[in-house]
Amino acid sequence: MPDDLPARREVTDAMRPEPPLGMLLELTHRCPLQCPYCSNPLALERASDELPTEAWQDVLDQAARLGVLQVHFSGGEPMARRDLVPLVRHAAGLGLYTNLITSAVLLDAPALAALSDAGLDHVQISFQDVDEAGADRIGNYAGGHAKKLAAARLVRESGLALTLNFVVHRHNIARVPQMIALGEALGAGRIEIANVQYYGWGLRNRAALLPTRAELDAATEAVFAGRERLAGRMVIDYVIPDYYAIEPKGCMGGWGRRFLNVSPAGRVLPCHAAETLPGFDWPSVRTTQLAEIWNRSEPFARYRGTAWMPEPCRSCDRREIDWGGCRCQAFALTGDAGRTDPACALSPDHAVMAEAAREAEAPPPPFVYRRIGSNL
Ligand code: SF4
Ligand code: FES
Repeated sequence: MPDDLPARREVTDAMRPEPPLGMLLELTHRCPLQCPYCSNPLALERASDELPTEAWQDVLDQAARLGVLQVHFSGGEPMARRDLVPLVRHAAGLGLYTNLITSAVLLDAPALAALSDAGLDHVQISFQDVDEAGADRIGNYAGGHAKKLAAARLVRESGLALTLNFVVHRHNIARVPQMIALGEALGAGRIEIANVQYYGWGLRNRAALLPTRAELDAATEAVFAGRERLAGRMVIDYVIPDYYAIEPKGCMGGWGRRFLNVSPAGRVLPCHAAETLPGFDWPSVRTTQLAEIWNRSEPFARYRGTAWMPEPCRSCDRREIDWGGCRCQAFALTGDAGRTDPACALSPDHAVMAEAAREAEAPPPPFVYRRIGSNL
């Protein structure tokens, strides 16, 4: 391990955290789409490394005992797993709130009926754009957009709660008003307009994806206008790209405080991008109980709370609001996960954000599409 990696933190009983609120189960990295901003790591896991059904069921049992309230079935495309229905049924039987995060290209009427019968509570469908040509180019999957529209209608007809998720970037950010209109037309209770977060595949494709400040400002205005117009009818969540922020986001509600992720192979992580960080030996559900990992493992304790913080966070009055920002972004941009997130205007590294944002002024390079087996 290089010398400049953070020291391991001793874990004591006094540091025992509150139970996690939610757990993301990345059932698989397999996916029919190849979005260039995928939140999965560059080194995607193969089907042969995925946890089997009984292991996922055991993880759900352990999560319920630990106090988890919500489980999010995700991927890759979780519907690529043949055992999704029994896993949803198992989670629902434990009284957990179940959310399916899906591209929806495999979500036909029989599949939805089976999931609904199994006790699924909520469906979140990701859209790449509002028109077929743009959407299918971004996902590199012909015919995907039409399938998503059909699936969204089925979800509404079934009475399940529906969220539409639009990941926005320089190729589609001009169409935020149409995204809101599509959410309204499809009867979504909530839409999420989320700018790409630049780790993993997003970071690899940053020069192709980062919008300009002017494009972002126009999108922000459209979101505020949509919120006002649809108040009480549809919730619009909005995530801006950190590259134009002056305050960082409280990523994951703070490291190891609210959420945990389980990777397809069973590694347990405080966020989806944590595997990009060097110097961690991630615990696995194959060998260690979830409660032990959450309450006592060193990787979860390393950046939990405020004791690890350097200045300016250490003496900042926002330190228990944003928890020093995002550790994965701090590493991606400074090489040190233990520094203040450069998205913060008080960070000594804040200038790297403005430097990177200049990429948005140049013509975009072609996408590097996400692929299993890609030798990036
Ligand atoms: Fe947040 Fe640290 Fe910036 Fe304060 S200095 S606003 S705690 S990132
Ligand atoms: Fe890992 Fe923000 S994505 S801490």
